[in-house]
Amino acid sequence: MNREVIIKTEKIVKSYDITKTNRLEVLKGIDLEIYKGEIAAIVGKSGAGKSTLLHIIGTLDKPDKGKVYFDSTDVFEMSDKQLSSFRNKSVGFIFQFHHLLPEFTVIENILIPSLISGHRNREAADRIISEVGLSDRINHKPSEISGGEAQRVAIARALINTPKIVLADEPTGNLDTENAESVIDLIFKLRERLGQTFVIVTHNEEFAQRCDRIIKIADGIIINS
Ligand SMILES: Nc1ncnc2c1ncn2[C@@H]1O[C@H](COP(=O)(O)OP(=O)(O)O)[C@@H](O)[C@H]1O
Ligand SMILES: [Mg+2]
Repeated sequence: MNREVIIKTEKIVKSYDITKTNRLEVLKGIDLEIYKGEIAAIVGKSGAGKSTLLHIIGTLDKPDKGKVYFDSTDVFEMSDKQLSSFRNKSVGFIFQFHHLLPEFTVIENILIPSLISGHRNREAADRIISEVGLSDRINHKPSEISGGEAQRVAIARALINTPKIVLADEPTGNLDTENAESVIDLIFKLRERLGQTFVIVTHNEEFAQRCDRIIKIADGIIINS
């Protein structure tokens, strides 16, 4: 396997104020390396800090302490403007709920990140829509497709700008077994076709077992990797 490191975190610490006197330390020093082309699963109990870590890796949130490096660049050294451009171009996000815009068609939803980056790319959208198997649904609105299809559209949207990494937070958490399986199969197929790197928070044991590596968080630290 290719062991080129694409993301590295160093001693990530994150806590939240629960009350004026009570602080919850969620992440207590996370050291992590993600390799190019791998599919890594992040697992752990509810409340363990999985989403918090994923948001920090994706620069949606900042740690109290510690560093995140993308291809050796210290991301939190960037200005807010550089950071939002970086996020748009280099990171794809998939959430538990698809968060498609209801007024827009499937193809328009997929194109949105490319519009934001100023490189509207209809050809890339057609290619990725074909990869996710929804070429015959491009003019449908989100309300006119199934939950599984909507999640496949969300995956296409995450990939339109060919990001360095795709971060997924319980992408099958809202799907029945059959749709969950098709989303999981799709993620593996996309990795094979595009060499895409994925970091996936999941409660789906079968999914986690299929991944290249399981990263387990407990008590604010990684207990294996
Ligand atoms: N913005 C916030 N303010 C206060 N507490 C938060 C906030 N976000 C998350 N938490 C708390 O931090 C802990 C970890 O949350 P989270 O990362 O969402 O866990 P997981 O995704 O593993 O279920 C939880 O106890 C949660 O309630
Ligand atoms: Mg979570």
